[in-house]
Amino acid sequence: MRELKGKVAAVTGAASGLGRAMALAFADEGMHVALGDVTDTSEVFAEVERKGVAALSMKLDVSRAQEVEAFAELIDQELGGAHVVCNNAGVSPLGAAWETSLGDWQWILGVNLWGVIHGVRSFVPRLIARNQGHVVNTASVAGIINPPGSGPAYVPTGIADSERNRPTGFEPTVKSKETLAREALLKKAVAYGRLSADDVAKAVVQAVKEERFYILTHPRIKGAIGARMEDIIGERTPRNPLAL
Ligand SMILES: NC(=O)c1ccc[n+]([C@@H]2O[C@H](COP(=O)([O-])OP(=O)(O)OC[C@H]3O[C@@H](n4cnc5c(N)ncnc54)[C@H](O)[C@@H]3O)[C@@H](O)[C@H]2O)c1
Repeated sequence: MRELKGKVAAVTGAASGLGRAMALAFADEGMHVALGDVTDTSEVFAEVERKGVAALSMKLDVSRAQEVEAFAELIDQELGGAHVVCNNAGVSPLGAAWETSLGDWQWILGVNLWGVIHGVRSFVPRLIARNQGHVVNTASVAGIINPPGSGPAYVPTGIADSERNRPTGFEPTVKSKETLAREALLKKAVAYGRLSADDVAKAVVQAVKEERFYILTHPRIKGAIGARMEDIIGERTPRNPLAL
């Protein structure tokens, strides 16, 4: 979408980190912005409004289809419908796959997977109807490389502190000593991530304008992605990307 000014961006997970930065970057382009989050977005709302564009805010849990649908409906009513949709809300409680509690798996998949599915189901038919739009789904490079534990491309945000968003009724993981040690390392790695949320938001705005499909925020990770693809095609045991 080459011209963003006057159009409408919808961003989930807009209260913090990448979502907050994207909301502000779209507002800088003159877009009106709809903010969705399970927590309070009033600080971002005020900052978006200060940039002279319209803002809308809704408290929603992206793992609930009807709440995402209500978000899309509210944007239709108040802002005339979204043009750019960022399915960005996410959580990242850490644990080895086999020791992660069922509650944690359900929570993670509810937000990180079903949140995107609900966003796509609610918004894409609307974009198709107006024959215009761009969807940005925030994922993790951990999904396309094979790192032990987690991915090495971090952006300093609140993601290592996802516990703050744990809903009631999801039994937490009982963490082993190794997991607790890895968690401490992850928090450090996230805090020291060299790319800022604002850098990522700028890359997203640029990619939307250039109508690009993939956004790889950390170019140095491309070698590890290539290695993983080669290992799949070559039917080899995956190499450790941290050791390449
Ligand atoms: N920061 C990184 O290094 C990194 C790395 C890989 C992937 N990501 C992904 O980036 C996205 C943004 O995360 P971030 O790094 O900005 O972290 P963050 O914790 O700063 O922001 C995440 C936002 O999502 C919101 N949220 C959580 N659960 C929600 C729910 N059920 N419904 C609605 N909103 C909810 C939180 O309140 C928060 O505002 C996530 O999808 C995350 O998995 C981040």
